[in-house]
Amino acid sequence: MTGQQKSVVNSWNDWDPLKHVIIGVADNCMIPPLEIAVDPKIEVGSPMRELAGTQRSKESQEKANAQLDNFADILRKRGVRVDRPAPLDFSQIAQTPDWKVECMFGCMPPRDILLTVGKEMLEATMSYRCRWFEYLCYRPLLERYFEEDPEMKWESAPKPRLTEESYKPGYKDRVQTEEDRLKLMAAKDFVTTEVEVLFDAAECLRMGKDLFVQHGMTANLKGIEWIGRHFSDHRVHAVNFPTDPYPIHIDATFVALRPGLIINNPVRALPKEQRKIFEINDWQILDAAQPAHKEPPPLCYSSVWLSMNVLSLDPKTVCVEASEVHQMEQFDKLEFEVVPVPFRDAYAFGGGLHCSTADVYREGSCEDYFPKQT
Ligand code: ALA
Repeated sequence: MTGQQKSVVNSWNDWDPLKHVIIGVADNCMIPPLEIAVDPKIEVGSPMRELAGTQRSKESQEKANAQLDNFADILRKRGVRVDRPAPLDFSQIAQTPDWKVECMFGCMPPRDILLTVGKEMLEATMSYRCRWFEYLCYRPLLERYFEEDPEMKWESAPKPRLTEESYKPGYKDRVQTEEDRLKLMAAKDFVTTEVEVLFDAAECLRMGKDLFVQHGMTANLKGIEWIGRHFSDHRVHAVNFPTDPYPIHIDATFVALRPGLIINNPVRALPKEQRKIFEINDWQILDAAQPAHKEPPPLCYSSVWLSMNVLSLDPKTVCVEASEVHQMEQFDKLEFEVVPVPFRDAYAFGGGLHCSTADVYREGSCEDYFPKQT
């Protein structure tokens, strides 16, 4: 049984053969409170505003968990070891000496929190107060990996203060219309300030020696600078996607499938000057296929572009949400084996197949896929 083996931590990219992964759980998940960084993310008129700070229904938790469990079974049948986090009572008030919020969030998307780079698993700072304590759900697993793999490096980025100074006052009033929002995003004027290091792990696309980090609503420049100094053997590149109205997490925007191949969300194109490093190293950036759905499921925090939020099992095999026919067809044409995974019932809890996972072990080592730097 793979489950009995001692853990090995090692993962350098998103496509090498996957052997061990964490999949989140939907238990006790809350609709986030409208704290200062969350508010500008939730659309005007969204029912999530009325329900902010309440727990998602037990029925929806059960449905989401059924799909998360099924995803875990699919991976186990393919020889991947799967671990699950330990949920807390997320309806609790969360507070530090600096602030207090009415509830926490959940632990369905481990990708947001845990950044695995080689032998290291790093707990990200996060930038929402309601997610400040979420790392606790993963501690039993990280403690175990630390015990079992003598080379595992366990790190936690500096916990942020998240005082009022970390956010721009009045920001939500500046993003009332889509037009206003797009102007701010294009100007890289995001909700967080630069007073402290802030980043979510899901802003980072790992490609061997190079790490591409989205500068957006949940990673500031100081956070990207911190990542660069911390992973000093790597080259860290800040990227941004000016036409994304909600730039939060890179994995429904810019997704690497195998050496040389990336899919980019066609409505969030990487700007021309930032494409250079890919072009001179012969990487192909293809437009991702259109989503199969016009709307995300109810009370969902993410967009329809979770269609491209896929999990690669190796450079030839990719898990895609089972109703995303266009995305599956694109991968068929690119000669991938596609593993369809029903997952729409889990989307509202924190994202798609990539968001809901965090790598522990992929085979392979740190390669240089970008020998020519700009
Ligand atoms: N920010 C990502 C999207 O919803 C997850 O498109």
